[in-house]
Amino acid sequence: MKKSKPVSPSLHVSAPGRINLIGEHTDYNEGLVLPAAIELDMRFRLQKNGTQGQCRIYSESMGKSMQADLSNLGTDAKGWERYIFGVLSELSPYSDKLKGFDGKLTSRLPAGAGLSSSAALECGLAYGLNKLFSLEISPMELIRIAQQAEIKHSGTQCGIMDQFASMMGKKDHFIFLDCRSLDYRYIPARLGDYRLVLINSGVTHSLSDSAYNQRREECRQGVSILRKVFPEIQSLRDVHPGQLEAVRHQMPKPVANRCRYVIQENARVLKAVEVLEHSDIQTLGNLLYDTHQGLRHLYEVSCPELDFLVDTAMALPGVAGSRLMGGGFGGCSLNLIRKGAVPEVISRLTAAYRERFGREAESLETGLGDGVRLLS
Ligand code: GLA
Repeated sequence: MKKSKPVSPSLHVSAPGRINLIGEHTDYNEGLVLPAAIELDMRFRLQKNGTQGQCRIYSESMGKSMQADLSNLGTDAKGWERYIFGVLSELSPYSDKLKGFDGKLTSRLPAGAGLSSSAALECGLAYGLNKLFSLEISPMELIRIAQQAEIKHSGTQCGIMDQFASMMGKKDHFIFLDCRSLDYRYIPARLGDYRLVLINSGVTHSLSDSAYNQRREECRQGVSILRKVFPEIQSLRDVHPGQLEAVRHQMPKPVANRCRYVIQENARVLKAVEVLEHSDIQTLGNLLYDTHQGLRHLYEVSCPELDFLVDTAMALPGVAGSRLMGGGFGGCSLNLIRKGAVPEVISRLTAAYRERFGREAESLETGLGDGVRLLS
């Protein structure tokens, strides 16, 4: 009788997307953020295949397979495959215990909506392989690995927020994260009678990667000008409004605006944490709207579709706050809406959007969920 090959047990991993309540473009400035993992996720099923380094993944949502050889990881992959190659390249130097595997990927996360499906993919794979091959890499290192995979393989010089939120999320909580020290605290989502609703503009701008990196560069430029007068400054996190005022005239205007936005946004995150304690939703909503105005006029990462969604929402009864969420130039608006008003707001907002831009804006209501984990 033919001996059947021993089948190694498979792992099932859930890796969530994220939202960000407030604290946009502050992470790479060593600042403060308040994201959360959501209930929508990517799922990996992973199994050792007994080879030295043949990795095969089938993506159910794409209907496509990909292959990688751990001994020869190229850098020319495209689309979702880039992130897989990215994680494998970052993970393999950590341990020679990493070997070949077969995987299946399914997604319940809309791509391109600004919910960080790429971070979910990176974190889910890194976490799953860490478990499957007992690599004993700590969660903080896995977050770094996932972030580096994104930076080196997608071309976006992203901060750490998305990967941190996907990995460390906690049901019904926001994560108050200090992106300098990586100290964090879970803040209960005391939203009372209000719900967080995402409206997807359906816009994805191809410029977003280069514009994102350009913003990062402008912030760096701002810091280096500030440091000439205030050498103790390490990042925009350390800058007081008065210090910026003192050197503002030495900066190109856009650079001064970027700095001003980041300083104000860090202060808004602190305030948001404070008002969440008391469920002060009106103040929280105002903070979200102020963030949008900052992203629009000072940081200049909005677009007409998002401005329209935000302005229209703010004029509707039951909406406490609205802003573009994520890197900008498209994706979703995040809206804080009184529970009873949600259906009416969504229907008026999407109708107005259709009339103005001739396209559909999808709404998405999702709870706050746990971070990456094994499913039984
Ligand atoms: C993207 C990046 C994050 C963060 C946000 C803006 O999502 O991946 O690191 O910078 O934009 O807050």
